[in-house]
Amino acid sequence: MSVAYLSALGGEPVWARTTDGLRLRLPMRRWLGYADAVHPADEVLIGRCDGPTIDIGCGPGRLVAELVTRGIRAVGIDTDATAVAVSRWRGAPALHRDVFDPMPASGRWRYALLADGNIGIGGDPVRLLRRTRELLAPQGIAIVEFASPGTGLRTHRIRLETGGWTGSWFAWAQVGADEAATLAAHAGMRVVSTATADGRHIGWLARASGGRE
Ligand SMILES: C[S@@+](CC[C@H](N)C(=O)[O-])C[C@H]1O[C@@H](n2cnc3c(N)ncnc32)[C@H](O)[C@@H]1O
Repeated sequence: MSVAYLSALGGEPVWARTTDGLRLRLPMRRWLGYADAVHPADEVLIGRCDGPTIDIGCGPGRLVAELVTRGIRAVGIDTDATAVAVSRWRGAPALHRDVFDPMPASGRWRYALLADGNIGIGGDPVRLLRRTRELLAPQGIAIVEFASPGTGLRTHRIRLETGGWTGSWFAWAQVGADEAATLAAHAGMRVVSTATADGRHIGWLARASGGRE
């Protein structure tokens, strides 16, 4: 994805294309944190984070940077070297790491963010949510951004494109907000609350059975 982030830094549009030919422009300017103020839906995403927070697939680190500004211990992880470099440049601690790699403070994070559709990472939301649960403390909360209700649980292959570059296909998933409870149950979690802000759907997920399955 590095070329995509570098292109976006240069002001170029970036799209995600699906194998059936659909092309969706990615909100790179928002991800790069170009806005003057915190986006209202981002405020909903991070507003309840009052303890150590890991942002999985942090991109250029806008959410981690904002949490650190608020005095919250936070770290982002991302497989993209450019995203990690931009995060660090803006003062957001970030690790160049896959979510399935060994992780600092595993089992002790109070919050784990899967923002901007990152529940799609790897194309297997149950596996990803189980992994997220492992990273969290027993009373920890996963804050997950879902797709619109009615989307269902879709896995597909997508690739990123700019005006002059085409990336490789990779697996991605989309999970509609109305599938959150089913997904959570498969991962040993439960939905404790939900919110919709500016058309974005957010769920707060805790361990099922008060931390013990
Ligand atoms: C939809 S973008 C999210 C943007 C990001 N939340 C932001 O604020 O800019 C997905 C991000 O997840 C990262 N990613 C993809 N697979 C990953 C993995 N297995 N582990 C960690 N990060 C991953 C990508 O490099 C990309 O930056």
